[in-house]
Amino acid sequence: MRKYIVAGNWKMNTTVPEGVELAKAVVAAAKELPANVELVVAPPFTHLYPVAEALKGSKVKLSAQNCADHEKGAYTGEVAVNMLTSVGCEYTILGHSERRQYYGETDEKLVVKTKLALEAGLKVILCVGENLDEREAGKHFDVVTAQTKAVLYNFTAEDLKKVVIAYEPVWAIGTGKTATAAQAEEIHACIRSVIAEKFGLEAADDMTILYGGSCKPSNAKELFAEKDIDGGLIGGAALKAEDFLGIAKSF
Ligand code: PGA
Repeated sequence: MRKYIVAGNWKMNTTVPEGVELAKAVVAAAKELPANVELVVAPPFTHLYPVAEALKGSKVKLSAQNCADHEKGAYTGEVAVNMLTSVGCEYTILGHSERRQYYGETDEKLVVKTKLALEAGLKVILCVGENLDEREAGKHFDVVTAQTKAVLYNFTAEDLKKVVIAYEPVWAIGTGKTATAAQAEEIHACIRSVIAEKFGLEAADDMTILYGGSCKPSNAKELFAEKDIDGGLIGGAALKAEDFLGIAKSF
């Protein structure tokens, strides 16, 4: 059965005390949510332990924003998947466009990271999305199809039960420019058909596909009303518990 998820990607924002406050506010507000909507927060690495403590006893899940492409060892500055599970992470985001753009995250690396994460028992929120040039050149379907296949076609239908896809058009991230519900829906439907092609209709139907890119309480309802949009990956609006929960209540 398809799950509805609203995940907050805090990116490189908040200090530890601010993050703990935010997590507590999310927990308090989450009590009013319908049971079929899962809330996830993805704070910076430094915040994971105290935020995990703040989430204890609630249904809000903890996610990392990235993980290392090695299991352990001499990789200064990296954080391994078993460190994430040991602190209570249930998810990790992988392949966010900011990581692809600024930190050389390639599809090949994402295959390795996805494999490590799944083996460690983490669920993966895999981000895909075209940039403005690609959209203007009419290549958005091709780009998103290629990104999806390049990573997920290396896995099995069983593995895919632990994967969530986030479609985030790069031109809509942090820009205030949201994709229209129709623009988002046609890409989500395309992603679902790419999954169906290799893994079958059931796997495609069960796949949670989130929209990300300037999603806020005022536009979430229209986006989430589309049949292939199963929630959101939220950046800016996740930094205010009220907005984050406002989005989650838009189903
Ligand atoms: P935004 O970011 O909501 O601030 O546009 C979304 C994301 O990058 O995940």
